[in-house]
Amino acid sequence: MLPPNSFVGKVAFITGGGTGLGKGMTSALSSLGAQCFIASRKLDVLKETAEEISTKTGNKVHAVQCDVREPSSVEAAVKQMISIAGLPSVVINNAAGNFISPTERLSPNAWKTITDIVLNGTAYVTLEIGKELIKAKKGAAFLSITTPYAETGSGFVVPSSSAKAGVEALSKSLSAEWGRYGLRFNVIQSGPIKTKGAFSRLDPSGKFENIMTDRLPTGRLGTVEEIANLASYLCSDYASWISGAVIRFDGGNYVSIAGEFNELRKVTKEEWNVMEAMIRKTKGS
Ligand code: COA
Repeated sequence: MLPPNSFVGKVAFITGGGTGLGKGMTSALSSLGAQCFIASRKLDVLKETAEEISTKTGNKVHAVQCDVREPSSVEAAVKQMISIAGLPSVVINNAAGNFISPTERLSPNAWKTITDIVLNGTAYVTLEIGKELIKAKKGAAFLSITTPYAETGSGFVVPSSSAKAGVEALSKSLSAEWGRYGLRFNVIQSGPIKTKGAFSRLDPSGKFENIMTDRLPTGRLGTVEEIANLASYLCSDYASWISGAVIRFDGGNYVSIAGEFNELRKVTKEEWNVMEAMIRKTKGS
């Protein structure tokens, strides 16, 4: 956890802030003094979260209805924030849309829906707020939440992996282009963290959670609090020289799957004794 008051006097805009990871990041920023604006489609969910967090932290959380797929909705949400609190110092593009499906089952509208939320939504929010910040000559930290499979690609979540790869390219590109305006752009690639929104769409039968957990070198899924701490750090002044970074946050999952010999974790001590003897016998041959 950062020192208390790390975000006092700062405004944060968090898409998808009403639930899951977004709610966790809002809670962390708010507890560190930020005035937060949470934006998503469902105003009733947002209002409940805003009330819950404000009561806990004593810092105001505002609920702003916004469909990130609609540029006019994004513009209205940003205007609302500016009229209440001014421009933000922190922008977290967290809103996502995803579900597992064999790609041959997807309609064009299914593809469009996911890429509109993930890639276009991130771009609309970033452009809308970025242009205002540049005009006002005000610096800020942008953070996007992606996934390790944005880098590798992954079957069965193809629209999501394609759109998240675009989000990473957007973040890295703007880190280079808009750094001169005092704007930083970073990415957290989140591995499996159990939230209702994600797991109901990515593991609806509950069958894969154990498989995922077994595969993780850390032996457990990540927690919302852990990603919220990292996000707070990256968006804070303590990270003012970090820009253009893509930080993998997955309990070692990516390297564990990738490493050619990592399945050898399953070999028992007895089996190692036998294999070691066999290898030693080959000496000089
Ligand atoms: N398999 C295949 N196609 C699916 C699908 C599934 N499980 N779920 C939705 N679709 C298709 C729909 O059939 C529709 O296409 P069509 O018009 O050609 O029939 C298209 O996707 C859009 O679905 P719809 O339900 O109308 O969109 P929506 O805007 O109401 O909801 C989703 C968007 C589908 C992304 C929904 O899951 C959602 O709201 N998610 C937000 C949160 C989230 O996904 N979090 C997970 C983060 S990991």
